[in-house]
Amino acid sequence: AIDPQFHENREKVDDHNGHDVWGPVDEPDKLGIHGTHVAVDFDLCIADGACLEDCPVDVFEWVDSPGHPESEEKADPANEAQCIDCMLCVDVCPVDAIDVDAG
Ligand code: SF4
Ligand code: F3S
Ligand code: ZN
Repeated sequence: AIDPQFHENREKVDDHNGHDVWGPVDEPDKLGIHGTHVAVDFDLCIADGACLEDCPVDVFEWVDSPGHPESEEKADPANEAQCIDCMLCVDVCPVDAIDVDAG
């Protein structure tokens, strides 16, 4: 599962689609965590798609991740500022790749 303490345990190494990327990143095998309020561990995401289908405010968008060992697409929290903290995405992700900081 995604580390809920990633803010402390990882470092910001990049920006992507207006959000932070938390390392380590070593493409194409290691992609890190995308987002801060809505955070997706790209190294855990298997492109299940439930988060995209269920989010009521369309926070997520697909991005390609060719060559990644888990999946060739990832759910990117492109619109994390729109999040209403419903926690649906956290509940439906089969690999617990998503953390939403509702506090
Ligand atoms: Fe969307 Fe709710 Fe997840 Fe926020 S917590 S990203 S609103 S599904
Ligand atoms: Fe990925 Fe989980 Fe969404 S596997 S596509 S973050 S439901
Ligand atoms: Zn991203």
